[in-house]
Amino acid sequence: MSETPHTRVRSAELFEEAKRRFPGGVNSPVRAFGAVGGTPLFVDRGEGAHIWDADGQRYIDFCCSWGPLILGHAHPVVQDRILRAVKDGTSFGTPTRLENELGGMILDHHPHAERIRFVSSGTEAAMSAIRLARGVTGKNKILKFDGCYHGHVDALLVKAGSGLATLGTSTSAGVPEAYARETLVLPLNDLEALEATMKEHADDLAVVAIEPIPANNGLLIQDASFLQGVRDLCDRYGVLLLFDEVISGFRVAFGGAAEYYGIRPDVMAFGKIIGGGMPVGAYAASAEIMDNVAPVGPVYQAGTLSGNPVAMAAGAGQLSVCLQPGFYEDQERRTRRLVDPILDHAERNGQPLRIFTRGSIFWLAFSDRIHIRRSSEIDPDSMAHFSRLHAALLERGIYLGPSGYEVGFVSAAHTDAVIDEAASAFTNALDEVFG
Ligand SMILES: Cc1ncc(COP(=O)(O)O)c(C=O)c1O
Repeated sequence: MSETPHTRVRSAELFEEAKRRFPGGVNSPVRAFGAVGGTPLFVDRGEGAHIWDADGQRYIDFCCSWGPLILGHAHPVVQDRILRAVKDGTSFGTPTRLENELGGMILDHHPHAERIRFVSSGTEAAMSAIRLARGVTGKNKILKFDGCYHGHVDALLVKAGSGLATLGTSTSAGVPEAYARETLVLPLNDLEALEATMKEHADDLAVVAIEPIPANNGLLIQDASFLQGVRDLCDRYGVLLLFDEVISGFRVAFGGAAEYYGIRPDVMAFGKIIGGGMPVGAYAASAEIMDNVAPVGPVYQAGTLSGNPVAMAAGAGQLSVCLQPGFYEDQERRTRRLVDPILDHAERNGQPLRIFTRGSIFWLAFSDRIHIRRSSEIDPDSMAHFSRLHAALLERGIYLGPSGYEVGFVSAAHTDAVIDEAASAFTNALDEVFG
């Protein structure tokens, strides 16, 4: 723990200024610290596993920009590629050889992607993948799972209707109910419900969308048998399977959850890691499916800054490091090195903590359940523990995303020494919370 308590005086001033400029003072809601209370950190810079806030305090960062920074902040390879690209100009609106480089790198090493289209965010990737699935199948309805997030796409900001209704209702003002009704919503981990719904709607169901490693409402690890069951039902009922690998892609393995579980999706949405911290998303599929996209096929989708050269260079730099032998095994090893001593400590001291992990993704759950596979299995009251832990960790120079429903990420820059320092701060913070 640092000798002097952390202060966020300068961050607080900046936040006051920001509130006069942006709704809630932020450009993406969770950043406002609404879930944990207190003042958001205004971050001035990052290097490796660390960030520095506007008050000059250093934190070990486990948010990592919500996942893109698998190599940590300002990694020299990524930084060098960005600087070199910028010198040649920032955007041309023409094809560039950098798109070929990043596209080739992904397609050469991904087990199921034959063609790819770059966009500028995960939301755009999911939205475009859904349009493609509808265009290919000529069907309208889509099916998603409660607890999975696919960006702020109208048709996907939907939750299950009341009672047994599977037709969705929108979770955001501004989404017409008519759109929401085109989306069916089911609980995760329930193949019977999925089969019944698919049987009923197969004639008009274009695609089943899933985060194969759901990581937006806690980390809801699914059994491989459930994911395989979803695949099999899609085959049986002639419905496309969309894996939203915006978080899991290039994170749990280069080929994401598809490679990790050995399950073939029809269409994939990517984001985060492929941009090396720059705004990049992509969707990919077989050549046959992707050739439905304009200008070859009838499904229209375009973007002024799609395939932006600076962003492509950043992504290519980052993925070249991810492709090094042993990269993912080492990520997983260091994640266990963080998590295991914290779990041991919690168990020895009767603290009600579980930590779920997949690869270098981890999630803290204040629960005694051995598995949490659905968002409904998360106790909302447990979030009070998270808020207290979040504050205690900030005091000890550890930054987690400011919500107990968010996962944490370990990067390649979290060396053993950094991990050990963080684990000791965690156990210390847990003692304060459960004192
Ligand atoms: C699984 C998943 N899909 C889509 C998105 C949307 O990506 P973006 O925030 O880049 O629009 C996210 C964002 O967190 C995500 O986690």
